[in-house]
Amino acid sequence: MCGIIGRVGTGDAIDTLLTGLENLEYRGYDSAGVAVQNGAGIKVQKRSGKVSELKNKIDSNVLEGQVGIGHTRWSTHGPPTDANAHPHTDSTTDVAVVHNGIIENYAELKERLAAAGHEFTSDTDTEVIPHLVQHYLDRGWDSERAFRTAIEELQGSYAVAVMMSGEHVIYAARRGSPLVIGMEDDEFFLASDVPAFLEYTDSVVYLEDGDVAIVRPDGVEFSDLEGNSVSREPETVDWDPEQAGKGEYDHYMLKEIYEQPTSLAQAIEGRVDSDSGEINLEDFPPGTFDDVDRVQFVACGTSYHAALYGSLALNQAGIQSQALLANEYSVSAPPVDENTLVIAVTQSGETADTLSALRQAQDEGAQTVTVTNVVGSTAARVADESLLIRAGPEIGVAATKTFSSQAVMLTLLGQRISADVSGDPAFDLESVLADLENLPEQFETVLAGSSAAEIAHQYEDSRSYFFIGRGLGFPVALEGALKFKEITYEHAEGFASGELKHGPLALVTPDTPVFAVFTGTEDEKTLKNAEEAQTRGAPVIAVCPDGHPATQVADAHLEIPDADSELAGLLANVQLQLVSYHAAELLDRPIDKPRNLAKSVTVE
Ligand code: F6R
Repeated sequence: MCGIIGRVGTGDAIDTLLTGLENLEYRGYDSAGVAVQNGAGIKVQKRSGKVSELKNKIDSNVLEGQVGIGHTRWSTHGPPTDANAHPHTDSTTDVAVVHNGIIENYAELKERLAAAGHEFTSDTDTEVIPHLVQHYLDRGWDSERAFRTAIEELQGSYAVAVMMSGEHVIYAARRGSPLVIGMEDDEFFLASDVPAFLEYTDSVVYLEDGDVAIVRPDGVEFSDLEGNSVSREPETVDWDPEQAGKGEYDHYMLKEIYEQPTSLAQAIEGRVDSDSGEINLEDFPPGTFDDVDRVQFVACGTSYHAALYGSLALNQAGIQSQALLANEYSVSAPPVDENTLVIAVTQSGETADTLSALRQAQDEGAQTVTVTNVVGSTAARVADESLLIRAGPEIGVAATKTFSSQAVMLTLLGQRISADVSGDPAFDLESVLADLENLPEQFETVLAGSSAAEIAHQYEDSRSYFFIGRGLGFPVALEGALKFKEITYEHAEGFASGELKHGPLALVTPDTPVFAVFTGTEDEKTLKNAEEAQTRGAPVIAVCPDGHPATQVADAHLEIPDADSELAGLLANVQLQLVSYHAAELLDRPIDKPRNLAKSVTVE
């Protein structure tokens, strides 16, 4: 996820661009840049760091011009360096481009363009776009034709805005990443999201996939990729600018819960092909883990629950694997050697406990991998290799979308590990890959039809909340309870279903609702455990598909679609995230910033 802004109008564009970037920083903040047309060609300024750092360095005398584009980045290809910041240009700076998304075929385009003499200066996928446009301009084609032809060659997802030297025009296109146009009488904007330009106009047109917009000083032309005109009517948004980063949502947490279909689609983009039954994990080709004989995951909090998810899946595939709390690693780490793979799971990549465990494992000779959301984070740099979960920035302190993306990426990585270590995939690969491809849509279904708000209301006067699950439902139960306690401040506990009868049952009363997660693994046992609580008066809320036997027994039901047992828990987790959110809302808690907690914990 990155933020794009563009502006065409009268007067200088630079202030509008910088304001737009500040308003979009919730979409990415590891580097930023702008490009404007000033009559003497395109001028670019960009750097790693926040928009404020860019702003301090801007020389507005140099950056004069009425047309401009800007970008705030959240890295997916290449670390956050000055060179990797957007806008990217061709070698002559005749074409400048900002882009959000992932160009899947960038490597082959880059090779082709390099062979034709184009020189690249960054590690990004985006840089192929200005070179490709330039390549067609060099044939003597007009700008629009060069733009359309280049865009047609891109595979993957994009929201892209392109400026060409000497023209007061921005060419834009959208496929799979958001792009919205803002219209005022004599000023036009384009951006990844409305907050970028909300202080200038509330009249917007949301582009659809396959749309091209050509933004000129006297208006905007909408067409499809082939150039056929399409009709797009402006609508008026009624957001308060202060609220704008959250869009229609009251809290970032809710927005991030609802972003999961997109963040998951982005996590698996280009990495999963169910038709060929193949996965492509960039730096982890088949054979990477041939000499691994056991795996340890180290992580904290929500990331630990994702790690447990990954580890249980590996155990089920017959691979020796453990999920370990990073903060206990220094006192109780099992032995490692050069055949041990230690995987640090950390969305921020900066958690001190996790870094310390990672360094210890490395010092003792283990192979190391970091699974993270932040390119260039300390954990990514310390480990031998890293795998990005591509969830985009998460502002709410309570982790939501990063958990689902971590679990999905660990499922894919687990597949590669088990295929290398045992020669067998961890599970029925074709079926799980097909399910993975359907997962974003299934998340949509859960989000659209959830009755979590009513359930939260129904049980709002309870004294304690219990969450149970078995197999891959167990980490989901732990995560459900952690989310609940951290944002509601109410007591909540997660248990393996079978553990309830070994002690916690003593706490069960009619005031302690039990959320039971059913993932298709020994569900009959979990149901029996839930009934044991129900017999003691506890209301049971079954999180399972419609028609599941648990729905006959439970007091309430949170529905999830039918899915492979490897992924069903992630759908159940969305329901539990929503229950926590709504319960916290009823209690009027500061949901995005719960007391005593920080997004990144950099002390041990
Ligand atoms: C809970 C939460 C924390 C983090 C934990 C590790 O919602 O977000 O439990 O999961 O502090 O953080 P990272 O993943 O950044 O290492």
